[in-house]
Amino acid sequence: MSRMIKIRVPATSANLGPGFDCMGMTLDLWNEIAFEAGEGLEYWAGGEGAEKLNKGNRNLLTKAFVRLHEVCGKKMEGVRISACNQILMSSGLGSSAAAIVAGLLGANETLGRLLLPGDLLKLAVEMEGHPDNVAPAMAGGLVVSVVARNEIVWRRYEIPEWTIVIVKPLLDWPTKAARAVLPAHVSRADAIHNIGRALLVADALQKGDVDLLRKTMEDRIHQPYRLKHIVGGMPAYKIAKHFGAAALSGAGPSLIAFVQAEAAQEAQSRIAGAFNERGIETRALITKPTGLGAYRVE
Ligand code: HSE
Repeated sequence: MSRMIKIRVPATSANLGPGFDCMGMTLDLWNEIAFEAGEGLEYWAGGEGAEKLNKGNRNLLTKAFVRLHEVCGKKMEGVRISACNQILMSSGLGSSAAAIVAGLLGANETLGRLLLPGDLLKLAVEMEGHPDNVAPAMAGGLVVSVVARNEIVWRRYEIPEWTIVIVKPLLDWPTKAARAVLPAHVSRADAIHNIGRALLVADALQKGDVDLLRKTMEDRIHQPYRLKHIVGGMPAYKIAKHFGAAALSGAGPSLIAFVQAEAAQEAQSRIAGAFNERGIETRALITKPTGLGAYRVE
């Protein structure tokens, strides 16, 4: 590797209420990863998740880096990977997707762009299992994506400035558990409930229409099942909705709320308060969307 390669990759919030497993958007919260010549496979992380990530050199990011070399049939040269992380881990903010996308993109840049963005997305979905975080992490903005006959079909939409409050309850909620609580089948009524609302949520997000978002950001196929397992989840969600529109971010446990800018601080403390009252500590932040997906810093 002749010179350092730096990649920035954004946080993502998937589902957005009724768009379960097929809709996600990028948030202005970034991990920045540097790849440079090193000995073997060296990895170091600073910021979010550093304690957990610095235990070894095997994690989603390094696995993705190695995987891309395998797919391209290229021998890996010694590399030192340093990550500076802002994306909260195990939160429903797409930290796994960000790691996968960063590893694939870093490797692809190292090898002189052997793969096209579509190939990278396919690999990322193979590693993540669903496209709703990795597609926006790569493309930026609001992204609707489906897997159709082995092909990932997606479209991205620009979204205006929204004020977004994220509140994460500090409790153990692995994605695997969050998927295990879901029923295998949904009723026709619940499917109909979600289909129309998902389309309207996409429209509301693009137009900055908080009234339409408030009326339509309701889900019946994952949130009700998940919220009852998250201590304080349901009351916190109700308070979040009171400030605008709200959803579980991804599989949770964080809540995402779309609020008026001047109410953001109050929304953050009231939503956090609902968890705190039940003995659950929280972390919270106020952010906004970004239209940018992962990119190489020149
Ligand atoms: N759509 C996924 C889920 C996102 O809700 O399980 C998890 O990363």
